[in-house]
Amino acid sequence: MWKDWIRPFVRPLPQWSVVGVAPPQRMVAASLRWDGNSADVTADHTVASLKPLTIATSVDAGEHPVLEYADIITGKPLGVLRLARTASIATEKASLVLYHVAASEHRCLGWPRRPWNAWLQNRLMRKNRASNHLNMEPAVAQQLMIAYLCPRPVVLVSVDAPGHRNIFPMDLIGPLERSGFFSLALRSTNVSVPTMREVRRVVLSGTPATMKAVVYQLSGHHKQPLADWNELPFPVRLSREFGIPAVAAALRIRELAIVHSQEIGSHTFFLGRIVSDETLAEGAQLHHTAGFHQAWRRRLGMPFTEI
Ligand SMILES: Cc1cc2nc3c(=O)[nH]c(=O)nc-3n(C[C@H](O)[C@H](O)[C@H](O)COP(=O)(O)O)c2cc1C
Repeated sequence: MWKDWIRPFVRPLPQWSVVGVAPPQRMVAASLRWDGNSADVTADHTVASLKPLTIATSVDAGEHPVLEYADIITGKPLGVLRLARTASIATEKASLVLYHVAASEHRCLGWPRRPWNAWLQNRLMRKNRASNHLNMEPAVAQQLMIAYLCPRPVVLVSVDAPGHRNIFPMDLIGPLERSGFFSLALRSTNVSVPTMREVRRVVLSGTPATMKAVVYQLSGHHKQPLADWNELPFPVRLSREFGIPAVAAALRIRELAIVHSQEIGSHTFFLGRIVSDETLAEGAQLHHTAGFHQAWRRRLGMPFTEI
């Protein structure tokens, strides 16, 4: 069809692709490289804030490391983030380093489609800026898409305290393997942030890919608490130690004791320790990756299962 041929020239790829992946993902590896050294950070880096775009890791990789994403099967480099050290966090006998994203590039599309797709995407972002509450610069959104080359799992986070209960989706989450921390980056405008800082406990439900619609529906709870656990459209079960309602159909339920929190730009960055970890089922979990990553996989005949 001529329309299929012409589409890439007039319409950008979607920024995000919602996919189902059996956790933990083993398709993309992330490595930090600096001064002739390198460290595998596939399970040891996370987004700590969106504005400014900040990466946290337990690896001290000097002042200006490069974070590289590569496909594990083919070894092909998919993209890089060039980082600049901004700060460190020392707490509970462990430390983390925060890096600002200074520049980026990806290799998922060839020339000239790569700059042309970015131009189309950026034009669309500028047009929709009024409805984008974070008001992110298009260049920074392009960097964020590269940070999603490692598909990011989606969890539902439960908060329960006298007078406040809530459950909302998150994907800007840990682990930070070497330090043993698990992190959450939550917009400071989220209604549950004060309660989380006070009660210092949350429960994470690994969401099956089949729950996509309800997960997106619950994104409204970033702004509004939940009136009653009974109002949820799915059954809950109590977490093992904290007794906080979690998703009964979750693939995995983890309880997190929060040991540190601090504001980093637009987000509150929480660090916690896993108190309990129950694997309840096997199967595909909801994940997000960059649209150009899925397009690259499709071209190679190995796309993620689109949800
Ligand atoms: C699947 C999913 C994952 C999300 N992950 C996060 C997250 O990790 N941190 C965060 O602050 N907000 C997260 N959000 C919330 C959105 O960024 C946004 O704040 C929310 O959907 C409300 O949208 P609005 O503020 O643009 O109206 C997530 C939303 C969805 C649907």
